Parts: sequence; structure tokens; C-alpha cells
Amino acid sequence: MTRSSTPLWTRDVEEMILPLLRELGIGFVPYSPLGHGLLTGQIRSVEDFPDDDWRKTNPRFTGENFHRNLAIVDEVKAIGAEVGATPAQTALAWLLTRGNDTAPIPGTRRVTRVEENTAAHSIELTTDQLNRLNRLRPAAGECHDETNTASIDR
Ligand SMILES: NC(=O)c1ccc[n+]([C@@H]2O[C@H](COP(=O)([O-])OP(=O)(O)OC[C@H]3O[C@@H](n4cnc5c(N)ncnc54)[C@H](OP(=O)(O)O)[C@@H]3O)[C@@H](O)[C@H]2O)c1
Repeated sequence: MTRSSTPLWTRDVEEMILPLLRELGIGFVPYSPLGHGLLTGQIRSVEDFPDDDWRKTNPRFTGENFHRNLAIVDEVKAIGAEVGATPAQTALAWLLTRGNDTAPIPGTRRVTRVEENTAAHSIELTTDQLNRLNRLRPAAGECHDETNTASIDR
């Protein structure tokens, strides 16, 4: 089992890594399957983060990138509303359609959210809804800040 970059808003692994994993029979744990919380729709302002929250300076959560990325969340939320699912469940339900070798492990400190997130397996998305999710533009901004990005793949 390996883990690499993210879900719905970071699709680069699909071309670069997943084919090799499948050839070798290795499972995949997508990194931060809820986009560090953004894909849950609960984060609308970085001002709400405590000062020691690393997302406050992460490129995807700052400035114009953050506002552009909220548009991705809005579409996830709209599709969730159509099927009676929360945005978190919708993002996870999409991930669960990506193959039996893909095992998302969302992070949360709350039991109620574990229950909400695990219920994603029973959410059925239509072909049209999956196509809309597949067409979402990639996240604006690098996944990590400059220092962390420089340390990746070394
Ligand atoms: N990100 C990293 O650097 C890193 C490194 C090593 C391993 N991992 C592993 O990767 C997995 C997940 O990564 P992650 O925690 O960074 O990102 P994630 O799963 O994409 O998002 C987790 C965030 O989403 C929130 N959340 C979870 N479920 C929610 C829901 N239903 N509604 C609203 N908010 C919800 C959590 O807040 P609450 O906690 O307040 O619910 C938390 O802030 C974990 O297993 C983690 O241990 C991550």
C-alpha cells in the first residue's frame, strides 16, 4: 500500500503513479482525501483558523487561490445536495468510485464525523454527477509551501 497526493482537487497521481501501482498490485491511500478539510465545505474563511494552523500559510488556503478553490467546494456541495449527502461524503463517494485498490482515510477528531464519513460508501453518484466531479478544475496553488515542496521526491 502506498500513499501519495490527494483526491478530487489533485489528480496528478492518476497519470504518474496509479498505473504503476496497479501494474505492481499495490493499493493506494490518497493523501488528505478531504483536501485538508476544504472539501467538506465547512471552511469559508482562513481567518477562522488558529494562528498555529499550518493551513493559514499554505498556498491553497491563501489569497486568490483560496477564493478560486472555494468554487471547487461549491460544486461538490451542489452535487451533494442533489443526492442528500454532505460535501465530505460526496468527495469521499467520488474517491470510492476510483477503484477497489483506493482506500481513503479521512482525518477527524470527532466521532460524529467518522460516522458521517464512513456513510459515504452508501452514496450513489450518477454518471452525470461523476462527470461533473471529474471535470472540476484542479486546485489553485501548490499542495505544500515552498520549503515542503522542495523536500518532496528527494
Ligand atoms: N496532512 C498531512 O500532513 C498528513 C501527514 C501524514 C498522514 N496524514 C494522514 O492523512 C489522513 C488525512 O489527512 P488530513 O487530516 O491532513 O486531511 P483530510 O482527511 O483531507 O481532512 C481532515 C480535515 O477535515 C476535517 N473533517 C473531517 N471530516 C469532516 C466532516 N465530515 N465535516 C467537516 N470537516 C471534516 C477535519 O477536522 P476535525 O478534525 O476538526 O474533524 C480535518 O481538519 C489522516 O489519516 C492523516 O493521519 C496526513
